[in-house]
Amino acid sequence: MTISRSDCVTMDAGDPLGSLKARFTVPKHVIYLDGNSLGALPRHVPERVQHTIKSEWGQDLIRSWNSAGWIDLPSRVGGRIARLIGAAGDEVIAADSTSVNLFKVAAAALALRPGRRVIVSEAGNFPTDLYMLQGLAALGGAVELRVVAPEDIEAALSDEVAALVLTHVHYKSGRVHDMARLTAKAHEAGALAIWDLSHSAGAIDIDLNRDGADLAIGCGYKYLNGGPGAPAFLFVAKRHQQGFHQPLSGWMGHAAPFDFVDDYAPAEGIARGLCGTPNILSLVALDAALDVFDHAAMGALRAKSMALGDLFIELVEARCPGVFGLLSPRAAVDRGSQVSLTHGEGYAIMQALIARHVIGDFRAPDVLRFGFAPLYVGFADVWDAVDHLAAVMASGAWRDAAFAARAAVT
Ligand SMILES: Cc1ncc(COP(=O)(O)O)c(C=O)c1O
Repeated sequence: MTISRSDCVTMDAGDPLGSLKARFTVPKHVIYLDGNSLGALPRHVPERVQHTIKSEWGQDLIRSWNSAGWIDLPSRVGGRIARLIGAAGDEVIAADSTSVNLFKVAAAALALRPGRRVIVSEAGNFPTDLYMLQGLAALGGAVELRVVAPEDIEAALSDEVAALVLTHVHYKSGRVHDMARLTAKAHEAGALAIWDLSHSAGAIDIDLNRDGADLAIGCGYKYLNGGPGAPAFLFVAKRHQQGFHQPLSGWMGHAAPFDFVDDYAPAEGIARGLCGTPNILSLVALDAALDVFDHAAMGALRAKSMALGDLFIELVEARCPGVFGLLSPRAAVDRGSQVSLTHGEGYAIMQALIARHVIGDFRAPDVLRFGFAPLYVGFADVWDAVDHLAAVMASGAWRDAAFAARAAVT
């Protein structure tokens, strides 16, 4: 017998993380299943950003770089993210975008492995990862990007390879790579392992140092809830920091930026990962958003997100039998915090769902993505979302021509 709505309400009532939902501003009538793309707004963030704008910027002006500690925000926020990803506080810094940070760490990996010019990544990786690596290779220096099928990754790790670049949780399918195993394989070949944690940070209890990761990057606007275009982060394992030389050698990564000397000299430690002036308003929003994680252990969040995903799969299969393909791994341990279904009319179906205030997203050609951010999604939300999905499919509501018109962002 399938689980009932009242069972789900009972599960929510017994959920120790259930009260955290009240810390977010998701409208009452909305079921938000897209935290894997843009995290929801924590309630207290606007006030913090307002304070920075009105008081620190408006009143204290440029003095706030010192008096409000703006200059330290990249490392302070980095240190808070470090706790969520199994890194030491001085191994992570918040800066720039994930794309830009990938360029920095991939170039630095080549410098850390002199004599090796090959970077290996997987076909179907998130496009910006492949595009940035293509851009790095196009700069010259005989750098070669080898993009291989997921099942060929280990075989591609030869003694020519400087770095293996993988996304830990696949953006489309939600499949989780075995970080410890693939990092060890990269090391056996003498290569470094670079992990894109965009769909992992804040969703999965990762431990970069336990798993031996060398370098990592990730988004601040997905499960970390930092807001649209929030600063990203980069991780450099302590053992590599001395030899870490990234080519975007802007003044904020200089050992003494306010000496204003002509020649670049990298800062000690993770600060050399910086480039230009930090985006303070966005960093303040991200810093405030991270407060929510002070109230939840990553292990508990992961356990809840796996249970939410399992419930969703069970209900979809019971309520819409044979209608959708399941792109995500069925086993929760192999899945990030999302479930991806496939359907040839996926775009229109997702639009019809969004019209009913159940918000997920669509990835071409046929993937409906549903993210289960455990901080603010409950079990009854999952039940209601599937109820709407079943209604959309039973009524054929998705056939309305209005749902076929593609917007710029899907
Ligand atoms: C795996 C992965 N990397 C990177 C990005 C985005 O990078 P950026 O913030 O530079 O646009 C995304 C966005 O969805 C992603 O899924």
